[in-house]
Amino acid sequence: MSDVTPLFEPYTFRSGVQVRNRLVLAPMTTGSADPDDSVSQAELDYVARRSAGVGLAITAVAYVTPGGKGFHGQFGAEHDGRLDSLRALATRIKVAGARAVLQIFHAGHNSPPELVQGDVTSASDVPSPQPQRAGVPVRALSGDEVQAIVRDFGQATRRAIEAGFDGVEIHGANGYLIQQFVSAHSNRRSDEWGGSLERRLRFPEAIIDEVQRASRQAQTPFLVGYRFSPEEPHEQGLTMNDTFALLDLLRAKQLDYVHVSLQDYAGGPRRGGDPELSRLNQIAERLGDTPLIGVGNIWTPDDALNALTLGATFVALGRALLLEPEWVQKVQAGQAGDLRTTFTRADRDALTLPDPMWNMLTGFMIKDRLTDAS
Ligand SMILES: Cc1cc2nc3c(=O)[nH]c(=O)nc-3n(C[C@H](O)[C@H](O)[C@H](O)COP(=O)(O)O)c2cc1C
Repeated sequence: MSDVTPLFEPYTFRSGVQVRNRLVLAPMTTGSADPDDSVSQAELDYVARRSAGVGLAITAVAYVTPGGKGFHGQFGAEHDGRLDSLRALATRIKVAGARAVLQIFHAGHNSPPELVQGDVTSASDVPSPQPQRAGVPVRALSGDEVQAIVRDFGQATRRAIEAGFDGVEIHGANGYLIQQFVSAHSNRRSDEWGGSLERRLRFPEAIIDEVQRASRQAQTPFLVGYRFSPEEPHEQGLTMNDTFALLDLLRAKQLDYVHVSLQDYAGGPRRGGDPELSRLNQIAERLGDTPLIGVGNIWTPDDALNALTLGATFVALGRALLLEPEWVQKVQAGQAGDLRTTFTRADRDALTLPDPMWNMLTGFMIKDRLTDAS
């Protein structure tokens, strides 16, 4: 059996936030908020159980402004009336022993129109590539609206501090608004927020500056992380060369960490970069001394150790923690052989999952691991 001690090394971030190990609960939307968009009891129970082993627990993404809501059943961080709901979430994570990080975003052109009163917005009027959004009209944000959204990220950060979180993660990945500004495919603006790559990077830069400004008001150590996706498949979409420029910016900002969103932690680049090396490896190199969270298809302790070998400082687990809530504790106790790798419908109660999440898992997320699939 492999030596798992590298996974259990404590770490102190630049901000002073300390974690007990290198394992992270990946941010996962549960679709289970209460009808008023506050965090539900089912979500609290789901997160609390999965925070008992990891060092850092990143919440499902919360929207920072009503026009940026991205999912049915998403909870909000968009006004001060959310403080109790957010405090309950931070508290359950921290009581379980993990550091609590609130992920924040604006969905941009991926908002379902019925959630944003039909006013779907983005950098430009380019439609979402998501097939379910085909034919949905998109409106380009005005310069004033762009500035207001930057401030909304700062306000959401202030709320995270007041609610007791240990940090925020800016969700610049998975094709949402921040990425829509960075990508030449979705950003066709000719004002200060578009055009050259340098201008397309101004929106993430403005948000980072605003979030870091807000974070300096915290009385206790408070971290700021940033998540991004390295490439887009469509023509004019992001390539590794765009990503290297983004990474130079992120590195210069002295963030607590950068979190890459990958389906496969060991995968290689599609366009740009060195085809012989994994993306993870190249990203870690470019970031220098800024810590990196790797993710994607990590199921076993050996997968996690490999991700560290490729240059990650931390390893985030998504679906592995859905299927095996005690993944970290079992691996630490030398019981990796007892990790649950498949499930049946009879496991529903044993897994502590909100109903919409259970439906996602059995419907498509890890259907291949469901042994009584019909
Ligand atoms: C049900 C589900 C919901 C997700 N929601 C989010 C989210 O809110 N924010 C985010 O950045 N990524 C989200 N992701 C992506 C995960 O954080 C992670 O990057 C992805 O699942 C790959 O890791 P894995 O192979 O360990 O599952 C979600 C993934 C799943 C399975």
